[in-house]
Amino acid sequence: MAVFGVISFKAFSYIRPVFRERGQLNAEVTGRLTETLNGVRVIKGFNAEDQEIKTFEVGVEKLYLNVKKSLTSTSLLTSSATFLIGLATVGIMGLGGYYVINDSMTMGDLISFVLFLGFVTFPIVQMSNIGSQLTEAFAGLDRTEEIMNTAIEDDGSIRTIKLDEIKGDIIFNDVSFAYEEGKPVLKNINFTAPVGSVTALVGTSGSGKTTIAGLAATFLNPDSGTITVDGVDLTKVSLNSYRSQLGVVLQDDFLFEGTIRENILFPRPHATEEELINAVKGAFVQEFTDRFEKGLDTVIGERGVKLSGGQRQRIAIARAILANPRILILDEATSNLDTESESYIQESLRSLMSGRTTFVIAHRLSTIRQANQILVIENGEIEERGKHDELIEKKGRYFQLYTYQARI
Ligand SMILES: Nc1ncnc2c1ncn2[C@@H]1O[C@H](COP(=O)(O)OP(=O)(O)OP(=O)(O)O)[C@@H](O)[C@H]1O
Ligand SMILES: [Mg+2]
Repeated sequence: MAVFGVISFKAFSYIRPVFRERGQLNAEVTGRLTETLNGVRVIKGFNAEDQEIKTFEVGVEKLYLNVKKSLTSTSLLTSSATFLIGLATVGIMGLGGYYVINDSMTMGDLISFVLFLGFVTFPIVQMSNIGSQLTEAFAGLDRTEEIMNTAIEDDGSIRTIKLDEIKGDIIFNDVSFAYEEGKPVLKNINFTAPVGSVTALVGTSGSGKTTIAGLAATFLNPDSGTITVDGVDLTKVSLNSYRSQLGVVLQDDFLFEGTIRENILFPRPHATEEELINAVKGAFVQEFTDRFEKGLDTVIGERGVKLSGGQRQRIAIARAILANPRILILDEATSNLDTESESYIQESLRSLMSGRTTFVIAHRLSTIRQANQILVIENGEIEERGKHDELIEKKGRYFQLYTYQARI
């Protein structure tokens, strides 16, 4: 029993990390598979099926090896238990038989001894089975613990300030930010976005515009410097109370599987029909939903119709109109629209923006001429700032960008 004890202890401490690793591998393989299926057009378009199959095979192979490892060691454990018990039985039979022959033990004693021994060994064999189940369960607990220990975004002990209705005065004060240490993305950004103003961010791709918007939306936290809303530091604010007053139309906008109506109602499920219709009209959604048999109740996504990029964008804009936020972030909100739809939506965006603090990011500079201030971002710094006319007159970077586009 002692030998068996030592073996099981060794075996279980060997198997536990294997089980833990399996959870991770499983997540990796299924995650990649989901991505692959979502990106199936890219894969087909570049004839990359074989390559993807290989990636999947490599993952599955790893998973298989992991399962094999754990099965081998649990089988080794069970077979060593059986072997040890067999060995003991042979010994007892031999020794007991010898005693019975020598008349120092009765047959009845031997039989009852063997019988009782059975009662002891049976649970030991069971223990090795239960032991591997327990180890698997503990490995699962380890993974759960890892997840439970991840820091929650809206940490109530740090984010203590609950905002009431905000006005929407946003100030970036010497803000620096990096996604990875040593690779600064934003450097000492200073600007004020007063209540109700429109701040446009322009600049080359990768200069840091979305990052600035992400900071203003509290999706990211500055590494140094502060961002304040109505004078309150955003890192101390309860996310719930801030984000309920925020509306976003993002670069890679996300719609849920469900009806168009559900997707628009998403920020305010209990909005009235009238509010919904206003939002739908404002974003010119009815222009394409009228053509669907079920109108706003058409299901979109995997199980329903697929929408074009511009149609998706209009739904996202309707969602923001319905949310009626104090702070509005439009990151390339009209990039997928043709010029005609864009000019329609410009109207509704203008009415959406009025009275709210708005951040607009757009590559098409014609969409941001009206902004109260334009910040030209280059390499994570504000290279120029001012209104459209001022910047054009200055003949600097903005002028370059603008005239280049106008030529096209
Ligand atoms: N999640 C991330 N992790 C690491 N680096 C990132 C991440 N997101 C963005 N970056 C990097 O930060 C820099 C700024 O990215 P950002 O998305 O802010 O650019 P952008 O100005 O919005 O560009 P675009 O006009 O193409 O949308 C880029 O160099 C990018 O590689
Ligand atoms: Mg961007």
